[in-house]
Amino acid sequence: MVKYFVIFGVCLLSVLGEEKTISMEELRLHNTAVSCWILIEKSVYDVTEYITVHDSLRYDIRKWCGTDSTKAYSKKDQSGKSHSKKADLLLRKYKIGLYRLN
Ligand code: HEM
Repeated sequence: MVKYFVIFGVCLLSVLGEEKTISMEELRLHNTAVSCWILIEKSVYDVTEYITVHDSLRYDIRKWCGTDSTKAYSKKDQSGKSHSKKADLLLRKYKIGLYRLN
């Protein structure tokens, strides 16, 4: 009996622990300020709520909604500067899944 509980537990954990994967097709649909997803390296982030906060830093990130923003994020667009550690930590909060190639 205990054996079945263990098997059930392991199955449940593997299902709950699985990360959502998101394709380029799906990412592209979220290209407005109403729903703004961005891809940075291998992860997808829903930064809709963060748009207005970033506005206060005097840079509008709306044009990156629905795109692969890896380069833009790492170079702060064309400024060539990288985001701070604080920004990288903050970004984690908005992660919604892993990017799926296809
Ligand atoms: C999508 C592409 C993005 C671009 C092109 C971009 C660009 C910029 C620029 C130009 C600045 C202001 C100039 C400066 O402080 O040096 C800035 C500041 C900042 N951004 Fe972004 N940003 C992006 C996305 C994000 C995201 C998604 C977050 C966090 C969720 C974020 C967090 C911050 C923070 C905290 C600052 C203040 C300065 C720092 O800590 O580095 N940014 N960003």
